[in-house]
Amino acid sequence: MKAVFTQRKCIKSVLTYGETSKPTPADDEVLIEVSHASLNPIDWKLFKILQFYPFKQIVQGKDVAGTVAAVGKNAAKFKVGDEVYSYLSYTLGGGFAEYAVSNENTVALKPGNMSFAEAAGVPLAGTTAWQSLQLGEISADKNVLIIGASGGVGSYAVQMAKSTGANVTGVCSGNNVELVESLGADNVIDYQKQDFRTLPGNYDIVFDAVGKHSLSACSDILVPEGHYITTMPNVKSFFEVKKTKSKGVSNQQNQKAHLISASASAECLEMFAQLSETGQLKTVIDRHFGLPALEDAYAYSRTGRARGKIIIDVKG
Ligand SMILES: NC(=O)c1ccc[n+]([C@@H]2O[C@H](COP(=O)([O-])OP(=O)(O)OC[C@H]3O[C@@H](n4cnc5c(N)ncnc54)[C@H](OP(=O)(O)O)[C@@H]3O)[C@@H](O)[C@H]2O)c1
Repeated sequence: MKAVFTQRKCIKSVLTYGETSKPTPADDEVLIEVSHASLNPIDWKLFKILQFYPFKQIVQGKDVAGTVAAVGKNAAKFKVGDEVYSYLSYTLGGGFAEYAVSNENTVALKPGNMSFAEAAGVPLAGTTAWQSLQLGEISADKNVLIIGASGGVGSYAVQMAKSTGANVTGVCSGNNVELVESLGADNVIDYQKQDFRTLPGNYDIVFDAVGKHSLSACSDILVPEGHYITTMPNVKSFFEVKKTKSKGVSNQQNQKAHLISASASAECLEMFAQLSETGQLKTVIDRHFGLPALEDAYAYSRTGRARGKIIIDVKG
């Protein structure tokens, strides 16, 4: 099958488009003929690390949408021909290929009203968004601030928070204010014009989807016992999260800091399909790249400016 895999060239590894062997599903796995995949920053972050190891060919890519091509003997949830999407269960993924395997517990039927390209955007970023909001105990009466509201994770987080009935404020650059408003945010703060930390705020949850801040930086705009959740630790937030884990809270206002570690689950994907089918969730697609142009897609993601998701067209 055609895939993009890592290949050792001289002292470093490169992404190579070429032929590699088609995976075979294990007993509890599903083989998916990939229509579209999506790129997440974790792909290029891990690639940077992988370059230091002399490894065999590895196919990355955590998110796919496609059609079930075969099922393992204990994988009873799906049949050949089902249109599905998946947060791939292998650590490095395997989605940047014509075929990928996933444990059936991380596969769900594709939302009926989403294209394969739109569905491919959802799994990892959507799961991160939802599980982060859950760490913050999201509910209808909560005030939520989402930093990085225009990115892959943030664009789903705004919509998912709104779907619970919460009041949502998004933070993004001026270029993306209209986009974040269109996702349903009640308020949008342009961080190029205003520092959200100096504005009056009374948030129950600050979700830092781009991991740029810390609990101490946001403490004044959080209610006592409020939650700060980050996707990426920095020196400050690392210790705040550690303190919350050991003492239950991180400071005198009983505020808590959390680091999300997204965990793939079919239940999340099933719930996202319902949200999509009831008009509460859509995928914002920034750009499409063909599979042979994956290196360009990595370079674009590295800029940190993607608006919504970067989609990889595997089937063309
Ligand atoms: N811990 C986990 O389990 C987990 C899971 C998924 C992702 N992550 C991490 O979460 C981060 C975000 O992922 P993603 O997929 O959302 O990335 P992404 O789509 O590449 O994020 C790009 C977005 O970030 C926004 N942004 C950049 N700097 C900003 C700032 N200072 N303030 C507000 N917005 C800013 C940009 O908007 P503007 O151009 O408007 O600034 C852009 O729309 C990545 O570091 C990723 O590795 C962690």
